[in-house]
Amino acid sequence: MRSLRQPGHPESKPGPSPRPTHPGLHTAWVGRGVGFFHSGSGGGAAVKLHVNGTEHEVAATPDMPLLWALRDLMGLTGTKFGCGIAQCGACTVHVDGSPRRACVTPVEAVAGKKITTIEGLSKDGSHPVQRAWAELDVVQCGYCQSGQIMSAAALLAKVPAPSDTDIDQALSGNICRCGTYPRIRAAVHRAAELTKT
Ligand code: FES
Ligand code: FES
Repeated sequence: MRSLRQPGHPESKPGPSPRPTHPGLHTAWVGRGVGFFHSGSGGGAAVKLHVNGTEHEVAATPDMPLLWALRDLMGLTGTKFGCGIAQCGACTVHVDGSPRRACVTPVEAVAGKKITTIEGLSKDGSHPVQRAWAELDVVQCGYCQSGQIMSAAALLAKVPAPSDTDIDQALSGNICRCGTYPRIRAAVHRAAELTKT
């Protein structure tokens, strides 16, 4: 079982993304209201993103992280900011069916690709992973859980009956500071059963 680690991410709450405070890839991004500019690029051009079955045109520079575009330009706040450096998994979305860390994915890398966020996994929470999560009451604070669910859904799409090892490997990059790992593993097995029925 994975150990409890604390990535130090902020509290879950609606509204604009918390700003990264670490030095690194995104230190040049500065928030202004609901939009953003890159300090070195002089403002955003239109980028077309195919998200949850709909094409969106967003005012973003090509190097804007997808997470910023989703949360602050499109209002899809189900995908969370945790670390900003691909270390916690809170920002996991699907790109052409595979899990991707949205915090380190520039929008230009996913233009024209099929992006799915937690909001697009199902219209009514009826995806087998969501049903299993509710049935087994997986969530504690909830901050990491959209990322956990997206990683689990991507795993089950490729491995319909995963072993414990498969689950641990597939979700190893998704950190839960509340230590819900045993319930997550059980819920992935339950979601596999629900997928068969
Ligand atoms: S915010 Fe932590 S991996 Fe993206
Ligand atoms: S961080 Fe609280 S449920 Fe995972």
